[in-house]
Amino acid sequence: MSRGTLIDLLYLFSATTFLVALKGLGSPKHARRGNAIAAGGMLVAVVATFFKYVDGHPLHHVPLILLGIFIGAVVAVPVARFVKMTAMPQLVAIFNGVGGGAAALVSITEFVHIKSTHPATYVTLEVLLGVLIGTVSFSGSSIAFAKLQELMTGRPVTYPGQQIINGVIGAGALALIVTILVTESTVLLWVLLALSFVLGAAFVLPIGGADVPVLISLLNAFTGLAVAASGFTLGSNLLIVAGTLVGASGILLTRLMSAAMGRSLSNVLFSAFGSNITASGATDRDDGRSVRSGSAEDVGILLSYASRVVIIPGYGLAVAQGQFVLRELAELLESKGIEVFFAIHPVAGRMPGHMNVLLAEANVPYEQLKEMDEANSELQTADVALVVGANDTVNPAARDDKTSPIYGMPIINAELAENVVFLKRSMRPGFAGIENELLYNPKTVLLFGDAKDSLTKMVAVVKAS
Ligand code: TAP
Repeated sequence: MSRGTLIDLLYLFSATTFLVALKGLGSPKHARRGNAIAAGGMLVAVVATFFKYVDGHPLHHVPLILLGIFIGAVVAVPVARFVKMTAMPQLVAIFNGVGGGAAALVSITEFVHIKSTHPATYVTLEVLLGVLIGTVSFSGSSIAFAKLQELMTGRPVTYPGQQIINGVIGAGALALIVTILVTESTVLLWVLLALSFVLGAAFVLPIGGADVPVLISLLNAFTGLAVAASGFTLGSNLLIVAGTLVGASGILLTRLMSAAMGRSLSNVLFSAFGSNITASGATDRDDGRSVRSGSAEDVGILLSYASRVVIIPGYGLAVAQGQFVLRELAELLESKGIEVFFAIHPVAGRMPGHMNVLLAEANVPYEQLKEMDEANSELQTADVALVVGANDTVNPAARDDKTSPIYGMPIINAELAENVVFLKRSMRPGFAGIENELLYNPKTVLLFGDAKDSLTKMVAVVKAS
């Protein structure tokens, strides 16, 4: 078997591992294994590439490539190992951005290479699309990172005529691509690069901080497409397959996330969601109703006398890092013969699978997790719905109030339980910035405080009761 055929077979093997890995990533149970399979496949592909012959010659610049890999690993490995779970979305954003930037650099290098070696030939479309999409992904992901890392405001940045201006920049970039295809101008390539950079930033600015995870998923898809374009440019089938898989899965994930929030993708991208906070943040309302607050003792005793408790975790649990003590509480209740399960909303938290990852970190058994629909069918028979740092995902306005910005988002029907307990620090709203009627419901008790502190106190009460 020739060296080329062997390398092609190894690439085919890698491409197959990527497909198997995607299947594994579809469930929290197999996600780790899926990730390891993909990493193994990628390692095989990288090693095989070092033995490839390019235009009849062994790979050039091997020491430089190894140096690049070394620098990348020195930066990325500690960052990835020590990142906090709550900072995961911005880590994905920046990793994705550099991926897009790398694809754009490959395209620029190829453009210059093609021009210097084949002066009278064509400049291919995929090279220019690689520059456009890769650069948009790089600058867009950088702004997304800055928003999530709070290096700039996380709220939508808007100005009059914004979408029209963005449309004009986008149309200008496409017109430049056509002009470069005809003129093969290197100067115009730099103009395209600059315009793509501005387009990426301008596209992301009006998107509110909490919609950014959906945006990152879309930018991830863009990076995949830029990598696929690089694959065409470099004649690499593996890059085409890998890039297309990332592009397709990124687009599917984006659609799933928008659907789980009950919003269309265009609403997420263009409505500047989150620029209006309508919640009053008051414990007393104009209509005379007020919230009922309780102590850790009250809630601990309520739980001790329950026979069925449904725990509904949300973003606040991740902020408080209360997953370990929450598991302890669940185990304690179970040891007293109380049935406990966790109801998981698909967009609880700030990234897909956020609650699954958080609870898996604390070794909560998968069998104790119920997806939204299954949980909803059982909430009616629960004595207590314990809402830990969740808000929008249990807000009945999503079901009942047609004027609500979250109308249409499926929710966990916490109010079906006999009693509802909210653990939160204040009357501040959740991500959507809107009032939650359930807080004022007579069957609801609020235990104010950091979720981890409240849970720790509750554990002590349940132990003693
Ligand atoms: P949210 O509606 O954002 O509510 C979070 C709650 O946690 C707030 O009530 C907050 O109140 C409380 N909280 C924050 N820190 C806390 C702490 N240390 N201790 C106790 N409570 C704390 O969360 P959710 O119900 O999980 O909903 C997620 C939202 O994010 C949805 O609107 C969803 O559409 C959106 N979103 C999700 C995703 C994905 S993929 N998951 C992506 C984009 C957007 P206090 O400040 O008063 O404590």
